Amino acid sequence: MSDDHTHVQEFFGARAADWDRRFPDDGPAYAAAVGELGLRKGDRVLDAGCGTGRALPPLRTAVGPSGLVVGADLTPAMLHSAVRAGRDRDGRLLLTDVAALPLRSRSLDAVFAAGLVAHLPDPAGNLRELARVVRPGGVLALFHPIGRAALAARQGRRITPDDLRAEPNLRPLLAGSGWDMTAYVDEDARFLALAVREG
Ligand SMILES: C[S@@+](CC[C@H](N)C(=O)[O-])C[C@H]1O[C@@H](n2cnc3c(N)ncnc32)[C@H](O)[C@@H]1O
Repeated sequence: MSDDHTHVQEFFGARAADWDRRFPDDGPAYAAAVGELGLRKGDRVLDAGCGTGRALPPLRTAVGPSGLVVGADLTPAMLHSAVRAGRDRDGRLLLTDVAALPLRSRSLDAVFAAGLVAHLPDPAGNLRELARVVRPGGVLALFHPIGRAALAARQGRRITPDDLRAEPNLRPLLAGSGWDMTAYVDEDARFLALAVREG
């Protein structure tokens, strides 16, 4: 277990029990972001860094009972909270690092990742691993239910130009990892970047 993993597990492990209570009004924003993936019935989708599984119900609604929904997370306590909330009814939960997914190459239609990229120790390598499991033409959504500036203000800091989610940084990062960025929104109420898996 690396130091990065230990840090993530300690940080989110301490917050897992209260996670959904801290953000009780985010449901519609998650559902709207999932809608942007353009999923169809029967599709196969991964929620990378699923945490307590807040995106799993709208993902299941989008792909229907014949689809596949997988939630992957590194922090056991977050997945325990997901189970307590009954979200394992909407998707299969995997305790795993997104750096090495136990999924076949090109086996998915889409990846949804909320609040994940800023926590990755190797963003380029990890985004490449997400690209590996998605078919060419499949879609990635990097989402946060709050924009970068509003989040920084909430945390008492300023956004800096080296922020990897800034558009001039994110576009080449995605391009170098197998993704073509097709949309970018960073407003107070949400951050959403969409990308398509290159062929
Ligand atoms: C900010 S939380 C967001 C959780 C959830 N997606 C949501 O929107 O409520 C980030 C999550 O990413 C997970 N995470 C961070 N690094 C990870 C990695 N390398 N592999 C898998 N999960 C990771 C954390 O354990 C945590 O649950």
